[in-house]
Amino acid sequence: MRALILSDIHSNIDALEAVLAAAPVHDVVWNLGDVVGYGAAPNAVIDCVRDLAVVHVRGNHDRGCSGLLHAEEFNPMALAAVRWTQKELSSENMQWLRKVPRGPVHTTGKATLCVHGSPLHEDQYVQAQPEARAAIAATKEPLIFFGHTHVQGGFAVNPDGDGFTLTPRYASPNAIDFYELKLRQGARYMLNPGSVGQPRDRDWRAAFALYDSVAQSVIFGRVPYMVQAAQIRILRAGLPESLATRLRIGR
Ligand SMILES: [Fe+2]
Repeated sequence: MRALILSDIHSNIDALEAVLAAAPVHDVVWNLGDVVGYGAAPNAVIDCVRDLAVVHVRGNHDRGCSGLLHAEEFNPMALAAVRWTQKELSSENMQWLRKVPRGPVHTTGKATLCVHGSPLHEDQYVQAQPEARAAIAATKEPLIFFGHTHVQGGFAVNPDGDGFTLTPRYASPNAIDFYELKLRQGARYMLNPGSVGQPRDRDWRAAFALYDSVAQSVIFGRVPYMVQAAQIRILRAGLPESLATRLRIGR
């Protein structure tokens, strides 16, 4: 079974289409949340992903845009995007967004877990080993996929208890590229496919991952997309200019 794992698409249809065109062959798609917010194509993204993915987990922006969370807690840029998205979403897509399940969600039997933030809390940012270790210690599954930080890579704990941080290494900063991680028997992992629509790891390319349960590997991928098209959509929508400029620098 090969699962294409997408997270933090953030209403960026240009990035999503590039990922789907470039992704290696897969059997299923898993969505780790934040399909909307920040970007200017929320309906197009939901129309694409709602039936495409067999696993959905809600993100904090999904909750904010669908009224399940007090968006006043968001920063001004995010709040502006929430308000704009609430007006833009079709009633059908708003209804769907409200019903996206809270993580963790089990996949492939009980072997893997999908969350937005962490198994401990859906809004937790797992940015360093201590948080990852705590989440791994609190769960039984050897493999957890998470999003929310918009940083591709993740964390591992070896059978002997040693922990380390995983950062994909790519040959080129501007071309399509892949990085394969072979999963070690007995090790535990918490892996982030990165953000499709608003990467924050100083790499502007759309990010994704592919999990192969037979080969026991995870392939991280980055793909260039028409970032100018996404920027123009944001500016034409009247969303904050910084939401457009940040896309090109990956922050
Ligand atoms: Fe996000």
